[in-house]
Formats: sequence, C-alpha cells, structure tokens
Amino acid sequence: MPYAEFDEVRLHIRQAGSGPVALFVHGFPLDSSMWIDQLHALSEVRRCIAVDLRGFGRSSAVDGSPLRMEELANDLAGVLDLVSEERADIIGFSMGGYAALAFAEIYPKRMRTLALVDTRSGADSADGKAGRDAMAQKLVADGRAAIAELMQSGLLGPQASIAAQARLRTMIENCPYETIVGALGGMRDRTDRTEVLATIDVPTAVIVGQDDGVTPPAEAEAMAAAIGDATLTIVAESGHMSPIEQPAAVNDALLELFSRV
Ligand code: MLT
Repeated sequence: MPYAEFDEVRLHIRQAGSGPVALFVHGFPLDSSMWIDQLHALSEVRRCIAVDLRGFGRSSAVDGSPLRMEELANDLAGVLDLVSEERADIIGFSMGGYAALAFAEIYPKRMRTLALVDTRSGADSADGKAGRDAMAQKLVADGRAAIAELMQSGLLGPQASIAAQARLRTMIENCPYETIVGALGGMRDRTDRTEVLATIDVPTAVIVGQDDGVTPPAEAEAMAAAIGDATLTIVAESGHMSPIEQPAAVNDALLELFSRV
C-alpha cells in the first residue's frame, strides 16, 4: 500500500518490515526518504511506515495556507486507522517532532513509545516568526535553490558526508513552493507544547546532534528532563540532520527505545 487515502487527502508512505507499527515523521522541507536508513535497520523489529506529510514528497498538494501541526497529527492518526493499528511508536524529526507533540496531546493513548529527534517543544520567538515570513518572501523572490543554499550549512554539521549533503539538497529542491510557504506558516503559528511534555506517559527517547544549531542540545536536555520516562542521546559528529548524518547512532537509540516496551 504505497498510499494512504482518507478525507480527500492522499499520503504517500514507505514501508518496511512487519510487527508493531512505527510511524516516522519527517522535517521541513524534507520527505519520507530522510528515514531510509532507519527503515532498513529497524524493519527486523517493527513494521516501519515513513509518511510523506500532506504537500510533501509524493503526497497530495496543498495550497500554501498555513499547515497546522494539529492537522498533520490528524493525518498521522488517519494513517494508523487505515492500517488498523490503535497504537504506534511515533518518531518525529524537527517539524515532524512538532507534529508528534501535537499527536501526543490529541491522541495520548495511541502512542506506544515516542522519539523526539532534533526538535523542540517551544513556539517560535518573535524573531523566529519574522524569519519564517522572510524565508517565504525569499523563496518566491529567489527560488528554491536559494533556500537550499541558505539551509544546507545550517542543517548539516561540518563533518556531513557528500552523500548526506546530496540527500538533503534533493529533498529541499523537490519540495513544492506552496508546501514550503504552508509549512513556514504552520511552524510560525504553532502552539508552545512544553506543558504537554509532563503528560507523556510512554517510554520516550530524545535524540539530538551535538552540533545541532537549529534545535540545540540544551533544548533536548530540557525536554528529556520534563518527560517522566525519557532518555537523552547526544549524537556525536552530527548537526541537525542526525538520522542521515549518523544513522547508526540514531538506529541504536531507537532500538533501545523499542526494547523498553
Ligand atoms: C526542520 O528541520 O523541520 C525545521 O528546520 C524546523 C524548523 O525550522 O523549526
């Protein structure tokens, strides 16, 4: 089943393995291919499903209006309904982590475990919000390659391989303009979910690249401290994109998480 269709939305999904479902949620402006290394490694223990969120990858198009994190969380629940799974391991990277925290708030009983990877619980600052609008303006004025240029060095650590750089560039340059504008609006408007952390009652892994400048280790540490049953993994020699920069370390942390249930 390469697509999940419901409520007039068609989401492309990548699947590997069998067993309990683990749902992988990508970041901005990326797609499900960022999880390929995790799908290969974890398919022994889980039915891994990596979703292209609406507007991203090969999923149905969006119109550029703000993509709300709650709407993305509802889509994740829709995928679980379609594969007849009440609960899943939810793995959210960066913007996918914002959606995962919305999911944790709306559907707390549908999580078996939670992984928050290179993400944060807080909302954008005033400067951060202005930065979202400036990026949307730059995108429509100068094109996607200009955005990719800007983001490349911010997202990857100094040691990132040429292959990791290529994967990132492909994802960014394939992302539709309307999706980038919609996701920027949705992230700008998102709710601060720091208070949700204390309500999370499933085993949780907080994972962050040691050189992540977008969602720095100090924020990951604070999130892990606020969650009842959380471990913190700081991934050496990685920037923001730990799942593609250091896949083995991220896979090990997820395997450890899955062994806790
Ligand atoms: C992401 O990687 O999803 C984004 O960089 C997150 C953000 O811009 O807040």
